[in-house]
Amino acid sequence: MNKKLIVLIGVILVIAIIVIVVGINLARNNENTSTVQNQASGENQEENQGVGQVTNNKTNVEQNQNSQENKNGNVLVVYFSHTGNTENVANFIHEAVGGDIIKLETEEQYTDNYNDLLDIAQEEQNDNARPALSTQIDNIDNYDTIFLGYPIWWGDMPMALYTFLDEYDLSGKTIAPFTTSGGSGLSGTPSNIEDEEPNATVTEGLSVRDSSSKNSQSAVNEWLSEIGF
Ligand SMILES: Cc1cc2nc3c(=O)[nH]c(=O)nc-3n(C[C@H](O)[C@H](O)[C@H](O)COP(=O)(O)O)c2cc1C
Repeated sequence: MNKKLIVLIGVILVIAIIVIVVGINLARNNENTSTVQNQASGENQEENQGVGQVTNNKTNVEQNQNSQENKNGNVLVVYFSHTGNTENVANFIHEAVGGDIIKLETEEQYTDNYNDLLDIAQEEQNDNARPALSTQIDNIDNYDTIFLGYPIWWGDMPMALYTFLDEYDLSGKTIAPFTTSGGSGLSGTPSNIEDEEPNATVTEGLSVRDSSSKNSQSAVNEWLSEIGF
């Protein structure tokens, strides 16, 4: 009788162990499945964001044209930047005033070799060249204020800026120039812009040292309030 009881208890114990082991495995499987699902939905989210960004890039300026109007009307920040300094300033302006922002790109990309670039830029300036732009801005008429940013190259705007000013009639608009440079400041460029766009109002410009572009937010905000933004 005792022996039978011991066998019975043994059988029950074995069954209980099997049930526990199977239960644990099932629970683990469920966990794995939900982790995979989460990862998958995360990936989907990333993918979707990617698609969103591409769409945004494609529609670019067009998309937001009617979206942001502040007290100075519709604003567009247009800038050229080869090494990112002017872009830093452009982003601070955009953060502060809203509106749209677009980087001017040339069809032919400039070299990253500094010495070669110095030669190329000087040659373009000597030739009064108009490097072709790959950036197109549709409906520039929708904007009242254009923030125009560029580095100083050989004491002037890069010639691509002259292409931009040739291609777009900015009559009746306000142009707010901003530059970065190694120390030349605005280098008289606002009056060159006035020459190119005689029917636009050119505000006082902002110049930022290349080494300070990342820390230029307060200088940007001060300038913006000086020119009425
Ligand atoms: C071709 C070339 C010419 C330059 N000429 C001047 C100049 O005349 N005066 C000056 O202060 N800095 C000059 N610089 C320095 C740039 O203006 C400065 O590094 C600027 O912040 C670069 O802007 P980015 O990073 O937006 O391209 C020159 C740089 C290059 C590449």
